[in-house]
Amino acid sequence: MRFNQKINILLIEDEEYDARRVQKTIAPLADQIRIQKIVADGQSALETLQKAPNQFDVVIMDYQLLGGITGENLIRKIKEIDPTLQIIVITKMTVNITDFDFANRLIEAGAMWYCTKYPGDIEDFIYQPTDFILSILNAFEKKRLLKKEQSSKRKLEQNINQILNEKVLIGESEAIRELRKKIERVAQQDSTVLILGESGTGKELVATHLHYLSKRRFEKFMTINCGSLPHELIESELFGFEKGSFTGATNKKIGLFEAANHGTVFLDEIGELPMSAQVKLLRVLQDGEIDKIGRTVKVKVDVRVVAATNKDLVKAVQQKKFREDLFYRLNVINLYIPPLRERREDIPLLVEYFLNYFADNLGLARPQITTSAMDYLKSFDWPGNVRQLQNVIQRLLYNVDGQIDVEDVKNSLGLAPQSKISSEQENSFVWDAANIAAWRDVEKAFKKKYFEFVRKRTSSDAEAARLLGLAPPNFHRMCKELGLK
Ligand SMILES: Nc1ncnc2c1ncn2[C@@H]1O[C@H](COP(=O)(O)OP(=O)(O)OP(=O)(O)O)[C@@H](O)[C@H]1O
Ligand SMILES: [Mg+2]
Repeated sequence: MRFNQKINILLIEDEEYDARRVQKTIAPLADQIRIQKIVADGQSALETLQKAPNQFDVVIMDYQLLGGITGENLIRKIKEIDPTLQIIVITKMTVNITDFDFANRLIEAGAMWYCTKYPGDIEDFIYQPTDFILSILNAFEKKRLLKKEQSSKRKLEQNINQILNEKVLIGESEAIRELRKKIERVAQQDSTVLILGESGTGKELVATHLHYLSKRRFEKFMTINCGSLPHELIESELFGFEKGSFTGATNKKIGLFEAANHGTVFLDEIGELPMSAQVKLLRVLQDGEIDKIGRTVKVKVDVRVVAATNKDLVKAVQQKKFREDLFYRLNVINLYIPPLRERREDIPLLVEYFLNYFADNLGLARPQITTSAMDYLKSFDWPGNVRQLQNVIQRLLYNVDGQIDVEDVKNSLGLAPQSKISSEQENSFVWDAANIAAWRDVEKAFKKKYFEFVRKRTSSDAEAARLLGLAPPNFHRMCKELGLK
């Protein structure tokens, strides 16, 4: 039995004779197991530990101490000082060795092990030395592992705080204050949440907070945008498939739900989920089972689902585009984020926040903003909500030095009058009698221009697709074909 590290013991024993017997028992490993201090009562033990908890690894305590804090009470108090400290209890022979209740009480209080002392006429040992020493080594190992776990938990906690600090939810309007409170409450409850709000109001931000404030925060947070994938791919993304389950399935694929096991899955734009995937999602929510393509044995998963949409799901249900049973399953708790134009008092706070944030990140000086510019920002309707405001501020930082005025704001919003030359140039492309182009080219050029125009004025692809009356996957594909992505 060799150990690299020294094991430091605090011995709580009021009889000198027994203290000596403990010392003799561990004598063969005295260079590794060191009795740092011997105290005769519970109170002194607690004071010693409080002063220097890190000085000790294992506490060996007599169960029958005279007076003061003793027994289970003492065990509990030691554990309160440092839960990683390991406690070995030695008791008198008089304790019935088949008394499981007693053993149980000790373990429940937090002891790691206990043994009954040898009779008083055995002078050299308190207990069978190899067993005794082995238990000390085990106790030390347990403490070391707990310390390690504690420190990695602390690091994870720090990372999580960093994430939450970077993703703060700005706003002091009544609605946002209430929302923050509700997020904290709902995060703790493990139920499904549906986040509702227009595009760019902060639905993903809220979902992130829900995860990192929940008990699942050390596990994965995985996001999928149901609108950005072609219908035929979404099921395999979500639920995975087995090797050989269809032509082309040369390897098995782990779906999002399996990958996020024990964590949270964020289903963005849930309104875009195709019907067949809706059925499978319902199964996950009802039974915690995934329907993996090509697999007959069910796979169990433990995942919290947070979904979001800017669509009117009730209407989608009426139009039979969204399953009613799924809607109720998702809508156990809902969080609604009002559009920015309904909480204008948040605008100056957001402007301040984004100005500082981007100035810091881009290494630029933070410009001042005139009152009229701020008034304009406050009075604007923000169809793309916070995301649009964020983009405008970022643009302003690139384009403006020193002071932001109302004209700068209008420019950044794309509201300034277009220069005459450029619009003439645009027109000349189509109406140039000398250069009549093939319809295919004109159509493509026009489509590209129009898509660019719409994308500039919307805050997300989902919104652009909606305004253009296109299914998001089609919009996505067309953008790619036009070289816009
Ligand atoms: N209250 C807020 N405080 C700070 N930043 C915010 C706030 N609300 C939104 N944002 C920021 O605005 C941007 C858009 O937010 P987010 O992506 O969460 O919106 P969304 O509702 O999911 O939009 P979409 O419907 O288009 O997907 C993000 O960068 C987010 O961090
Ligand atoms: Mg989103």
